[in-house]
Amino acid sequence: MTAVPLDRARTPPSAWYTDPRMHDHDRDALLARTWQYCGAASALAEPGSSLHADVAGRPVVFVNDPETGVRAFYSVCQHRGGPVGVRCGQATFFQCRYHGWTYNLDGSLRGTPQFERGPSFDPGAHGLKPVRHAEWGGLLFACTDPDAPDLDEFVAGIDALVAPLTVDGKAFHMREVYPVNCNWKVYVDNYLEAYHLPHVHPEYARTLDYAGYREELHGWWSVQRGRLEGDTGYYGALGEGVELFYLMVWPNLMLNLAAGRLQVNMVRPLAHDRCEVLFDYYYADSTSDAARAAIAEDSVVSARIQAEDAEICERVHQGLASPAYDSGCYSAKREQALHHYHNLLREWYGKSGVPV
Ligand code: FES
Ligand SMILES: [Fe+2]
Repeated sequence: MTAVPLDRARTPPSAWYTDPRMHDHDRDALLARTWQYCGAASALAEPGSSLHADVAGRPVVFVNDPETGVRAFYSVCQHRGGPVGVRCGQATFFQCRYHGWTYNLDGSLRGTPQFERGPSFDPGAHGLKPVRHAEWGGLLFACTDPDAPDLDEFVAGIDALVAPLTVDGKAFHMREVYPVNCNWKVYVDNYLEAYHLPHVHPEYARTLDYAGYREELHGWWSVQRGRLEGDTGYYGALGEGVELFYLMVWPNLMLNLAAGRLQVNMVRPLAHDRCEVLFDYYYADSTSDAARAAIAEDSVVSARIQAEDAEICERVHQGLASPAYDSGCYSAKREQALHHYHNLLREWYGKSGVPV
């Protein structure tokens, strides 16, 4: 499909954001078929440790099997669908919370208390269903599509572009979760452009070299990059001239990278008009006095910027849902990454048979 040039292109129709049927389409045709960020790989460092994640609305449990390393399964018991592996920490087997069936760490069925089925019952057909998983830059991912390309394809080139910075090498510090009353793609769209910065985040915009801020488009990702020139707030504490990278990785992962600091944002749809955004903070240093002060400031500044973004996204969703709007246009100077993302989306919907 040939993309329409930016200066003539129209933005997607508002139904992509406001039609309740798009929630299922996005979950099944897009998020369930792509790599989803699940947390810090370090959570599985210890043999026997486990991690639960929501992967495109499906419950998944990771475990570090002392024999074979990290494994991932749907957290779905094969008796009647109960949740398994819910005990975090030093698990030696999975157990379902509903009626207590147990599974070995390779997913095979281990025990069925008080079950008393006859010889026709085949334990081998009742193991946990595995899920693909991968690690990149210390981040853990899962994908529920057995046929999707490997994660490497989706992040190819990022490491080289951000060098000498790295996504890896920082320790997980904390997670915050923000609900937002808008379609998840409204939030992504907002992330993808700095056009709104002077109007929605005037204080933050004053710390940036806005004129020098630029966008670069790659296969499955894009980056916005700029340098700090002010000295206010947390970003000022990073130091004047520090380069910031805002990476959008297909389809719902955002990596905000600076020296010694990585903030991972992942937006998850909850309904066609509701989503939540995970903020995972990683730092190279979180223990020195200076680092602790900077991290406290980071949390305050990030919460303020998020509140500003959430408020405008909710208002935009209302606008998209009104009869006054269907499709708009792009700034050729400031909305290139947005156009790139919409082209990927249009192509993906077309390939997947989503009726848009
Ligand atoms: S649903 Fe898991 S033991 Fe019954
Ligand atoms: Fe913003």
